Amino acid sequence: MHTTTSPKTVCTLGATGTVGFETTVHMLQAGCGVLAVVRDPYKIRRMLRARAITSFEGLTIVELDLFAEKAIADPSVAQAMMACDYIFNTASKPVSLMPWSRTNHERGSVVSSLTGDIVKAASRGGKRPRIVAFCGTEYFAGHDDNISFVHKTATRLANKLSAALRDNHDEAMLLLTSGYERWSVLRCGSIRPSSGQTGDASRIGTDLHKDGSNYRLGKGKSLVVEDLAAYLAHAVQSGTFSRFEGEMPFLFNTRFLKHV
Ligand SMILES: NC(=O)c1ccc[n+]([C@@H]2O[C@H](COP(=O)([O-])OP(=O)(O)OC[C@H]3O[C@@H](n4cnc5c(N)ncnc54)[C@H](OP(=O)(O)O)[C@@H]3O)[C@@H](O)[C@H]2O)c1
Repeated sequence: MHTTTSPKTVCTLGATGTVGFETTVHMLQAGCGVLAVVRDPYKIRRMLRARAITSFEGLTIVELDLFAEKAIADPSVAQAMMACDYIFNTASKPVSLMPWSRTNHERGSVVSSLTGDIVKAASRGGKRPRIVAFCGTEYFAGHDDNISFVHKTATRLANKLSAALRDNHDEAMLLLTSGYERWSVLRCGSIRPSSGQTGDASRIGTDLHKDGSNYRLGKGKSLVVEDLAAYLAHAVQSGTFSRFEGEMPFLFNTRFLKHV
């Protein structure tokens, strides 16, 4: 059994993306083992070299099209993923799987099978990794009932007007309703690359959704991706990530809070 101080292993899905790459880098720098799942291994090696990371120690790269049918059906891939303590799902669905796409419409579903397949594989055994998903500020019925009327109405309206907004909402709903308890859905309004002075985990403010004021505080405050990744790495290694279990905290940039 792992203690809070033993090195953790994390899987990053979409490790060449904005969130996925920074998460991969910060986890490696924090001493975690990282299983990076990408569709282009050369791309991630190039990106790591550009950050002067050349040894790749602790890093395993798996090449996989995550949105292919039964992407994680391969037992060796599933086994490697389920041997991790965390799975950070930061892969963005292709346009063909968006709710408004004709192809997806023909499939009769607004959700790719990826999240469902991960949950199924995780439920079967291994370390029962914590599955971490990212979404925007969507409203989740049954979880957000105490938020302000204005926010609830605005979000519902936005969801109706733009099916694309519901995309990650539906993926997150799969986790929430799956019966698998080891999940966290992190809500971030907007995540942007840094201007340099970043990577300090203490800059991230978090709040659980129970207090309606979080919505107002978090509104429009973009999160610098290096801060986010540093915060996640710290939370993983210190064991404090466990307080997000079964939760949907907002993460936002505290640098802005003093101006609110
Ligand atoms: N950015 C934000 O402001 C924000 C805010 C809230 C929530 N989120 C959510 O957070 C997640 C990550 O966002 P992001 O901004 O980091 O996205 P991103 O920069 O677009 O990265 C997406 C990643 O998914 C990978 N990917 C796409 N299709 C794939 C496939 N078929 N197989 C394997 N990998 C595939 C991409 O690989 P390639 O490099 O090969 O293209 C890329 O690494 C998304 O779910 C997003 O909706 C983002």
